[in-house]
Amino acid sequence: MPSFLNTLSSGIAAAFRSSGKRTPDIQQFSDRKFLREVYLPAFGQSSGRILWVGCRKYTAGYYALLEQAGAEVWTTDIESRLARWGRKGRHRTGDICEADRLFADTTFDAVLCNGVLGYGVDSVGQQTQALEALSRILIPGGRLLIGWNTDKISDPVAAGLTSSWFSPVRFAGQSSRVRFDDSTHVYDCLSRNP
Ligand SMILES: C[S@@+](CC[C@H](N)C(=O)[O-])C[C@H]1O[C@@H](n2cnc3c(N)ncnc32)[C@H](O)[C@@H]1O
Repeated sequence: MPSFLNTLSSGIAAAFRSSGKRTPDIQQFSDRKFLREVYLPAFGQSSGRILWVGCRKYTAGYYALLEQAGAEVWTTDIESRLARWGRKGRHRTGDICEADRLFADTTFDAVLCNGVLGYGVDSVGQQTQALEALSRILIPGGRLLIGWNTDKISDPVAAGLTSSWFSPVRFAGQSSRVRFDDSTHVYDCLSRNP
């Protein structure tokens, strides 16, 4: 798979260098702080087995945060080279569009799928396939968090891509949808239909 993310982050870094500004630290973005400070503790407290989709160096610290309250974290990414940033001993390399085959032997209480729709799982067909596959590995009532960007894909919930398997649900004291004034990032929290 082309490492378009490396190209993208190099491009951003180069643009900041040439403008004399510091490279932005992704962990300081408002949506990222929200993920770390609100969602990760809440998912850790409420969920038994959690699947984290999409592993990067900057996500490697998230698994311990989720596990602090007793959750069991698994991770997955389509790129084998990124396994090093997954949960040690509980990582599988594969395509999330085939999550039900990749995790045929287990189910999850929650799936956190942030920055994957629009960053590899792009077409409506791929997104639908991924959502259906994820619905098959989630227990009824299990939570799915999708984080996506308005400048990368069309609204998957408004487009009805989730409604066959999921319903929007309030979580962590927040509305099912959380948006940010200074970012195109959107979080949608969904519950697996019974
Ligand atoms: C923008 S990064 C997001 C990483 C992380 N989830 C986060 O919160 O920042 C997108 C990640 O999704 C992975 N990815 C893209 N397409 C995928 C697919 N079909 N199945 C599994 N992972 C995929 C990429 O390899 C990459 O690591």
